Amino acid sequence: MTDTTLRYFKQQLPGLAGRYKLDVPDCPVKLNQNENAWDWPAHLKQQVFERVRDVPWNRYPPFVPAEFVARVARHLGADPAQVLVGNGSNELLYAIFVSTLERGRKVVIPQPTFTVYKLLADLLGAEVVTDGLDDEMQYDAAALERASQDAAVVVLATPNNPTGSVINPTDLEHLVFNSPALWVIDEAYFEFHGESALELAANARNLVVLRTFSKALSAAGLRFGAMVAHPEAAPVFSAAKLPYNVNIFTMAAIEVAMENAVSMKARVEEIKRERERVARHLRDFKGIKVYPSRANFLLFETGRDPRELWKAMVSRGVLVRDVSGYPRLGKALRVSIGRPEENDAFIKALEYAMTIVP
Ligand SMILES: Cc1ncc(COP(=O)(O)O)c(C=O)c1O
Repeated sequence: MTDTTLRYFKQQLPGLAGRYKLDVPDCPVKLNQNENAWDWPAHLKQQVFERVRDVPWNRYPPFVPAEFVARVARHLGADPAQVLVGNGSNELLYAIFVSTLERGRKVVIPQPTFTVYKLLADLLGAEVVTDGLDDEMQYDAAALERASQDAAVVVLATPNNPTGSVINPTDLEHLVFNSPALWVIDEAYFEFHGESALELAANARNLVVLRTFSKALSAAGLRFGAMVAHPEAAPVFSAAKLPYNVNIFTMAAIEVAMENAVSMKARVEEIKRERERVARHLRDFKGIKVYPSRANFLLFETGRDPRELWKAMVSRGVLVRDVSGYPRLGKALRVSIGRPEENDAFIKALEYAMTIVP
């Protein structure tokens, strides 16, 4: 890069260019992004089209979509004064980090975890501490307590991506009430686990809970997430959010999703059963270690070259995630749980890959 181009960027930026990449070859069995394998039924999509047809497209959405936020709050079980909505939970994470992180401030991001956290923290020039997960990739409360003492922010995904591990609720409550840091609890996979820190957010001023509609609610393409903070903190975070960040299409679709939440979440139990079935199959392979997971994916390690296994499975039309570039996961792959027949295709493709990759 020439000096003229370099001159106008913040010091840390050029080093980050191109760091977040995703290799997505076209495969009939797509198990690489922890999506829900079941799309919306046609009659629900039709309801969305009809609602959007009746809304003026030439006008901005409400400056504060109070009615919509109130519905989201009711759906989540929170007070509307605690809730902010976003174009995916990632957008809200961005608003939280912009509100709290800068050069000279520390953020605890236990590794390995969701790549976007560190990417955003680096973008803002914050110091990243990676402690918090033990050798078995379980949350270590004592390590978290130590690391959090001089940190501005701690980010925990629970269940964590890509390990599937969860924080013990008693540990979390103790940590939140005995730490000066802001605790950002990312519950993207909440529905597959069932435990939440949401109730704590009504009392703890230093806790924020993130939720997404991208996973259990089959809405990754719509881009919608919400955050729940203490009522005193929520309006402050709101200052870091762009106006009109959720568009009329997404709002209409999310309303339909919330009205049909029971049927939309009907596959969650099946996905959990399938997760355990796939885990049993993986454990039957000699030399494979499977991590216990409370989400809709499994992390596993083999003694083989993960990139070669990944390629061999792609050649059989099955796409999993090569997570071997993540910290501490040099031998690992991650597979999302799909429909039963997709999971069978994955087991078969892995069986094949294990025969050709030494
Ligand atoms: C832990 C975690 N948080 C957030 C997200 C993305 O959420 P959204 O689609 O709402 O931006 C993911 C997606 O993989 C994730 O694994």
